[in-house]
Amino acid sequence: MNSSPSSSNPVELDTTKLPTHVAIIMDGNGRWAKKRLLNRINGHEKGSETVRTIVRTCRKIGIPYLTLYAFSTENWQRPKTEVEALMVLLKKFLQSERKEMVENNIRLRMIGQLDRLPTKVRQALDQTMTATREKTGMNLVLALSYGGRAEIVRMVQEVTEKIKRGIIEPEAVDEGLISDHLYTRDIPDPDLLIRTSGEMRISNFLLWQIAYTELFVTQTLWPDFSKEEFLQILKDFQDRVRRFGAV
Ligand code: FPP
Repeated sequence: MNSSPSSSNPVELDTTKLPTHVAIIMDGNGRWAKKRLLNRINGHEKGSETVRTIVRTCRKIGIPYLTLYAFSTENWQRPKTEVEALMVLLKKFLQSERKEMVENNIRLRMIGQLDRLPTKVRQALDQTMTATREKTGMNLVLALSYGGRAEIVRMVQEVTEKIKRGIIEPEAVDEGLISDHLYTRDIPDPDLLIRTSGEMRISNFLLWQIAYTELFVTQTLWPDFSKEEFLQILKDFQDRVRRFGAV
């Protein structure tokens, strides 16, 4: 893991060595608001602006997959007012960004427990996913009501059901088959996972998929996370040697 980079020079990226898939744990909205004596919800609002900046940057430089941890299975335990405010923000984002996503050839996808989301969020999500279904320039994957363990439980249930019905043989269970039964079945594993606001943990995010992912933790709070810092992290990623367990 690394700490925050510090460079004031413009970042020169090798466009032939960009990660295919960047995943981000967007943390620190509450702390950002608290430092300013604001409401936590103001922190989430400012955080949605950062979402826009980072999505645009990925599209511009050509990163094919960006996954954002927008709401975890654990986040349902937050105060009702905060959960409701986050759902409203999500709905607004899905509606307000639809046109830009279509125009910029961005496909919206979601991973997580779709059925737990309020109807209005589900509708906005469905509309944006349908409107962008054929888009090929970039995939924006929102993890919503997502938990890595819940995803694994769901996969085991699906696989055991198929074994019970004789659709697959127990001997056919291998890493590929497991990957094919996760929400991310047609999404490559992340090359780079970024976590903002300094905590050194994974928080139940993409547990299976990050086996060989490069990790980067920055102290910056999500609302303060900038395009410049993102590019600097990508540069740092390009300078790392990935061995995937080999020498
Ligand atoms: C963590 O900050 C952030 C979240 C739980 C939600 C992330 C949501 C957004 C960035 C806004 C809406 C999303 C989209 C896709 C438009 P925290 O509240 O845990 O911060 P803290 O640890 O400082 O309290």
